Amino acid sequence: MSDDKTVLGLVGSPNKQGRTNQLVSAALEGAAQAGAPVELIHLADHVVQPCRDCLPWVCQSNLKCSFPDEAFELLSGKLLSCGALALGSPVYWWDVSGLVKYLMLKMFRVHARGGPLNGLPALGLAIAGGTGNGLISGLRPVYHFLQILQMRPLAPVPATRFDFDQALARAREQGAALAGQRNQRQPFASVAERLSAYDRLPYLGLDRFQERRLLAGLVCAALPPEAGLSQGLARAEALRAAGDSLAALEEIGRVYDAGVELFEKL
Ligand SMILES: Cc1cc2nc3c(=O)[nH]c(=O)nc-3n(C[C@H](O)[C@H](O)[C@H](O)COP(=O)(O)O)c2cc1C
Repeated sequence: MSDDKTVLGLVGSPNKQGRTNQLVSAALEGAAQAGAPVELIHLADHVVQPCRDCLPWVCQSNLKCSFPDEAFELLSGKLLSCGALALGSPVYWWDVSGLVKYLMLKMFRVHARGGPLNGLPALGLAIAGGTGNGLISGLRPVYHFLQILQMRPLAPVPATRFDFDQALARAREQGAALAGQRNQRQPFASVAERLSAYDRLPYLGLDRFQERRLLAGLVCAALPPEAGLSQGLARAEALRAAGDSLAALEEIGRVYDAGVELFEKL
């Protein structure tokens, strides 16, 4: 079919063989198995130059950066012509990588006003592959990007080294879902409709205790049941329910630390 749209996967890590690549590749595997043409691009091969915030703001009307930037030309062209997007970032200091950030900022500057990606089905993936801290906060800038560019979001895939195989499986499923939506873009009719769709996504609204609780839970789930950390999880939750958020965070931190110590010995 000549108008069959591609599912585009962008890998935002400088490490081409790393976990971000594995996650994005898993999403594309799922998409390919569901019948979609797929394309994977490493942002490390196309490093976008920082937006210079130049004035007058001509790029929003001529849709082109005023400075030579072959990487941006290529990547924005791919984004504008694909049928669905899987964007993966490594988590660096609870945030996205610079490779991802520079692409996002220039896309905002050139294309946010025109909204050419309204309704594009899109999936965000992030791997907090060290401590696991930032497994959710690292996803938020990705979904902020998707939201500002008005893409139609699929539920995010957070990943850590404690649940990496499960995350790969979820990435495959979400990739198949992207494939199913790639040829029928559903633009948002209003800002309210769009914001409501983003508000309904899982994970992104977690507060700091809930994010730490999720992480501690993933560590505990990777341990044998006899590790005996479930009481600590319950204590932390009870403290939180009683309104003592400092004590709750301290307790969940103790559970996490104990869990990681055991995990390292597995
Ligand atoms: C500068 C830097 C900051 C990092 N910060 C975090 C972090 O906040 N949380 C975390 O879990 N891992 C962190 N890591 C570890 C990476 O998330 C981990 O190595 C991940 O696997 C990188 O993705 P990649 O394998 O695709 O390169 C950091 C790594 C680097 C290089």
